[in-house]
Amino acid sequence: MIEEFIAWKDIYSVGIVKIDDQHKELINLTRLLYDACLTGTESGRFYFKKAVHDLVNYVAFHFSAEEKLMERMGFPGLPEHKKEHEKFVKKVLEDVKKFESGKAIVPNTFVRYLREWILTHIAKTDQEYGLYARMHFKQAAEEMVD
Ligand SMILES: [Fe+2]
Repeated sequence: MIEEFIAWKDIYSVGIVKIDDQHKELINLTRLLYDACLTGTESGRFYFKKAVHDLVNYVAFHFSAEEKLMERMGFPGLPEHKKEHEKFVKKVLEDVKKFESGKAIVPNTFVRYLREWILTHIAKTDQEYGLYARMHFKQAAEEMVD
């Protein structure tokens, strides 16, 4: 079986269904971006551009939802977590800018960076507030997600 470029695994679950669903969508959008990378044509460039924008928009929505959840729960790791989000957004927006100004960015390197960051972040950093939610809020955390 051919291993997929990026796929959801149960070990990524933070124990909050709404957040897991958002992470699944994030993974989905990253896979679409990778697919667009594979087509080295003019239309491939168009799809790449669209896929980048979809991903960037969704990342903004998702990070904001996570940060609001952490704030509502009084999660002490929020400042650190927020910093990780901000660093990532900054780097991605810089790359997107390079891409839009026609400067060389290697789509493959870009999409591989996205994959590594997203999966590591979900598997490690997001687990911290997941654990906190299970300890202090149980099912109620579900209602705290936008
Ligand atoms: Fe996060």
